[in-house]
Amino acid sequence: MSMTATVYYALAFAFCTFVALLKWNEVRYRRKGLPPGTMGFPLIGETSLFINQGPAFMKRRRSMYGSLFTTHALGSPLIVSMDSELNRYILMNEAKGLVPGYPESMKTILGNNVAEVHGAMHKRIRGSLLSLIGPAALKEYIFPKMDKFMRSFLHNWNGKTIDIQQKATQMAFFVVLEQIVENEPISFHESFEAIFENIFLGTISLPFNIPGTNYYKGLKAREEVNAILRELIAKRRASSVTHDDSLDRLMRNDGSKDKLNDEEIIDQIVTMLYSGYETVSTTTMMAVKYLHDHPKALQAIREEHFAIQQNKKPGELISWEDYKNMTFTRAVILETLRHANVVNGVMRRTTTSDVELDGFTIPKGWRIYVYTRETNLDPFLYSEPFTFNPWRWLEKSLETHNYNMLFGAGGRVCPGKEQGICKISLFLHYFVTKYRWEEAEGNKLLKFPRVFAPKGLHIRVTKY
Ligand code: HEM
Repeated sequence: MSMTATVYYALAFAFCTFVALLKWNEVRYRRKGLPPGTMGFPLIGETSLFINQGPAFMKRRRSMYGSLFTTHALGSPLIVSMDSELNRYILMNEAKGLVPGYPESMKTILGNNVAEVHGAMHKRIRGSLLSLIGPAALKEYIFPKMDKFMRSFLHNWNGKTIDIQQKATQMAFFVVLEQIVENEPISFHESFEAIFENIFLGTISLPFNIPGTNYYKGLKAREEVNAILRELIAKRRASSVTHDDSLDRLMRNDGSKDKLNDEEIIDQIVTMLYSGYETVSTTTMMAVKYLHDHPKALQAIREEHFAIQQNKKPGELISWEDYKNMTFTRAVILETLRHANVVNGVMRRTTTSDVELDGFTIPKGWRIYVYTRETNLDPFLYSEPFTFNPWRWLEKSLETHNYNMLFGAGGRVCPGKEQGICKISLFLHYFVTKYRWEEAEGNKLLKFPRVFAPKGLHIRVTKY
């Protein structure tokens, strides 16, 4: 055989293999009534397009197949829903077999997490969480602690160049840890933070339990967290000293018929630390960025906070009424969530039977990505959607409209919403009244699948 013929056959073979691989997934997952779409290569599917092109990939697919389409990403077949009405329907109808469908790694590392349980079990765990993190607890005893924490966390930044992403992450973590276990030394907080970072990274990685992988480290970190918390629980049981924190509240829940056992207490603590961690820190970082880029909004937020300070004696704490008067700050936070798309969407899966959606049949056990990003940028809901305009949220009905899914919707709507907004508001209160800041050069931001500055977001801070 001549050289030319060899090359020809090799190319033909490569081409046929390519087509066969491309068809493999299509054939493997073909079902009657499925939404249209493509499935990519075996195992990897279209993961790289999905992650690297994100929003552009979604839009292209929508123009080809409509607002409900099929793909294969992150290790399994996936239905993507981009229609606001349908997204709302999915979130409001968990009872029809549309339950949370977060990745395997989250399930194994986070344990019996609220997002993993359904029906009566969900009601019980969510109820216990709400009593710890919901608006009543926030107002009654979390708020003053939070204020004290922010005040000391934000002192002494004058003249420094800081990575606001790192600071916001620390803030979001420490403020919750302080709520859960008061009076532990700073060394406890720091070592716990380092372990928890591995838990977080483990939950967003593929579940390959091989030494060296983030998943493996995440599982090990979870074991460490369990050991630390078990020791803390034992220490508290052996002592007569009481504490004004969530761990004591969880342990004291004696009279209730829904008393949690130790493993459930530990799961609740991990959920509290995990749930608001990334959303709060990313929103804080992006609010700082947007305020820097929009001087009018910065001026308006400063005026709001200086007006609050004017009525206070030096050192006087912020009151709940002061917080409720931070209406422009709330608008900045909601606009930041919308404009930055801090939450691009939430995951669901069908349970034990096929589910009808919009005339299509979603097979049992398949995942659905309820993609809410497009709703955040819908010009019918938000005029000039690509403009950062916090003033739009001063129109009260915008926050409560049916398609605002910044905090989810239905039975899973975020129980930490008020707490998250409150943390960021208090952070901004001290930040904008104490400091000015300039962005350092060279910052880079990624927007999908999560908002993230790979090398940090550096700012130079000076006294205001
Ligand atoms: C800016 C801040 C926050 C945003 C944007 C946010 C967003 C969300 C969203 C979109 C969901 C729905 C998830 C789904 O339907 O699958 C959710 C659920 C949840 N969030 Fe938040 N969240 C924030 C802060 C917090 C905080 C501070 C906490 C706790 C201290 C928290 C605890 C939870 C929990 C436990 C759930 C699960 C509820 C359930 O499954 O019943 N969140 N959050």
